[in-house]
Amino acid sequence: MPVIEFENKKIHCPIGSQLREVLIKHGISPHNGNSNFINCRGLGSCGTCAMKITGDVSPMHSKERLRLSLPPHNHVRGLRLSCQIKVLGDIRVEKGKGYWGQIL
Ligand code: FES
Repeated sequence: MPVIEFENKKIHCPIGSQLREVLIKHGISPHNGNSNFINCRGLGSCGTCAMKITGDVSPMHSKERLRLSLPPHNHVRGLRLSCQIKVLGDIRVEKGKGYWGQIL
């Protein structure tokens, strides 16, 4: 069972779990500030659940790639959308500052 490491917390989840859902279920928001209330609820369109991920997750598909190509995101930062990620192995997750979590 994969382990998600976020700050000083470790969460176990089944392989293939959606990262955003797991985090929220364990009381960790992938959103900052008002984006906790104003977001697309996992549709992959708002970009506010962006996080830095290290470890084994599903590859980026076209929908996620498109949203991360639009401001304030850009692919140089290497962020991923937690709502579009399936956890495949142990990962480490970091949340940046800013409405979209775009500032690391
Ligand atoms: S919750 Fe909107 S893109 Fe992930």
